[in-house]
Amino acid sequence: MNITDFINQMPKAELHLHIEGSFEPELMFKIAKRNGIKLTYKDIDSLKQAYNFNNLQEFLDIYYAGANVLQTEQDFYDLTWAYLEKIHSQNVIHTEIFFDPQTHTERGVAFDTVIKGINRALQDGQSKLGISYVLIMSFLRHLDEASAFETLEAALAYKDMIKAVGLDSSEVGNPPEKFQKVFEAARNEGFLTVAHAGEEGPAEYVWGALDLLKVSRIDHGNRSLEDEALIKRLVDMQIPLTVCPLSNLKLKVVKDMKDHPLKKMLQLGLKATVNSDDPAYFGGYMNENFQAVTEALDLSKAELLQLSRNAFEGSFAGEDLKQRLLQKLDEFEANN
Ligand code: ADE
Ligand code: ZN
Repeated sequence: MNITDFINQMPKAELHLHIEGSFEPELMFKIAKRNGIKLTYKDIDSLKQAYNFNNLQEFLDIYYAGANVLQTEQDFYDLTWAYLEKIHSQNVIHTEIFFDPQTHTERGVAFDTVIKGINRALQDGQSKLGISYVLIMSFLRHLDEASAFETLEAALAYKDMIKAVGLDSSEVGNPPEKFQKVFEAARNEGFLTVAHAGEEGPAEYVWGALDLLKVSRIDHGNRSLEDEALIKRLVDMQIPLTVCPLSNLKLKVVKDMKDHPLKKMLQLGLKATVNSDDPAYFGGYMNENFQAVTEALDLSKAELLQLSRNAFEGSFAGEDLKQRLLQKLDEFEANN
């Protein structure tokens, strides 16, 4: 089997996906029309031409503007369902998705509206497409601690739908310690924790995520490689890194895909995984990410299998489900 077919057919788990970042321009225009909203861009092509970013902040500005179109429960359902249909066609069999409630509650859309739409689509994805899932609520780090606490408070009524909390948005200048108390409160309520760290921010933010926020996984983590002691800690603890190759390229975290640290991470024994982050903005879902990084770094089938195994093992699926998912990967490996 050629490497492209191998990537496409390999059972995969996605652990780093912002549902608002899967908002394709076509659906955005459709929902805008339905809600009587006029977008700044006159058509799909001019919107797509704006998807040229020099850094994380330039992307975030456009990403939050796009999310403003989402207003009703059906909007959140349609957004999530479109993502699930897409990944189903790519043999992604388990997904752990972030949603950013503050992006919506800040502009007057109720928490209940957001989570009910997303959750109903996830349930349909499980029953109709066989995709298992975990929902992660992410705090926006450019907002203050009080707003994060309010969001945690709102989430308590939906504890059965949310397994973990995360931390995203503008990294530099918003270090983990800003959210130490709210993460502690979240852990006391039984939530697992993850955080974006070391995407643009320094290795110290990865230390902070581990030591102060007590995360089970690091989202991105690229800049961990600048710190030998940190690498050792991440390897010893087998902390999963949810790496996002196309995102790193589009946000200029790497200059060229050939400079991407993914292969080095595997060689160092880090538990790296491949993810799409915000696929509608960065030019690809899981298979495109795997393809791009495989071509640039000449990854072997053994390395691809390792990446997929890392994701299943690093997932928040319960033990039984995790074993069933890993068995699917074992079967694929045995037959290919
Ligand atoms: N929100 C959506 N995508 C993000 C990323 N890559 N980093 C930080 N915040 C985000
Ligand atoms: Zn992200």
